[in-house]
Amino acid sequence: MRQPATNKPLRRPRRLRQSPAIRDLVREHDVSLNDLIHPIFIEEGIDEPKEVSAMPGIVRYPEAMVEQEIRELAELGVRYVMPFGISRHKDALGSDTWNGEGLLVRMIRAIKRACPEMVVIPDICFCEYTSHGHCGVVEDGHVCNDATVENLVKQCITAAEAGADMLAPSAMMDGQVRAIREGLDAAGYEQVGILAHSAKFSSSFYGPFRTAVDSELEGDRKGYQMDIANGRQALVECLLDEEEGADILMVKPGTPYLDVLANLRRRSDLPLASYQVGGEYAGIKYAAMAGALDEREVVFETLVGFKRAGADLIVSYYTRQVAEWLAGK
Ligand code: PBG
Ligand code: ZN
Repeated sequence: MRQPATNKPLRRPRRLRQSPAIRDLVREHDVSLNDLIHPIFIEEGIDEPKEVSAMPGIVRYPEAMVEQEIRELAELGVRYVMPFGISRHKDALGSDTWNGEGLLVRMIRAIKRACPEMVVIPDICFCEYTSHGHCGVVEDGHVCNDATVENLVKQCITAAEAGADMLAPSAMMDGQVRAIREGLDAAGYEQVGILAHSAKFSSSFYGPFRTAVDSELEGDRKGYQMDIANGRQALVECLLDEEEGADILMVKPGTPYLDVLANLRRRSDLPLASYQVGGEYAGIKYAAMAGALDEREVVFETLVGFKRAGADLIVSYYTRQVAEWLAGK
């Protein structure tokens, strides 16, 4: 006799979703403070913290408050920070970045003084220190690659000397990773790593960040940052950085470029990073302030999304807040 047709499923994926314990057992990704880097804005010449208007909840700290803020972050369990300076000493080259008493050096020293175990990964670029706001040496309205790379090497050695653990070059100059690696090694900083902004897109999601750092930029960075449409070219950039000696490859921004991250995951075995930029933070924050979404749930969803797409680590302005949530605050 013929078996009666049955619509009973043979495979039941819902078995693995039937209880919190089973769901926890099979969960593929997790977000912890071992994977989160917190950007921190430090401004020269102010006495009180200043709210960043485009990024509610984020402030620019006066130098005198850095140590206290770092101790608080450490107490909350934050282990990695990425300092950004807001300079009062801008010039055409951004030379304050290789000044032995400049803002970059003072930020790194202050963080290490407050908490020697805090891993310091400064952004390495010129745009916050140049009078024109571009990420390097400008000649005839264009950013000169090789002259900028030479200055990047000086900045990196200065930052390493000040105590940086790892450097995050973000200028998108050709050959910057190799030149920095060679420069660090020649100066005896073989242990200082490079978290390369490998595929950094020319994104409008940087708008709030540029407000946050009082960027002087007029125009755009399309001559050096990547065209937002180019996924394959992003892989070229990333694989070049791997060849040039990067320790970690980063894709930036985060959410709109998860495809790049996922594709890169299949092409490189280095640790990968994603940067949830200012505009992504602002988008969630303002929507949450309007009552349109559950901030905590949405933030964890985005962070898990980065992990699922292939990120091992994430730079996020939500790191401090995540630490507070995890601590039950
Ligand atoms: C500059 C730099 C930028 C960011 C970090 N370093 C953006 C820019 O090109 O203006 C963006 C960070 C953010 O948007 O949160 N090299
Ligand atoms: Zn820059």
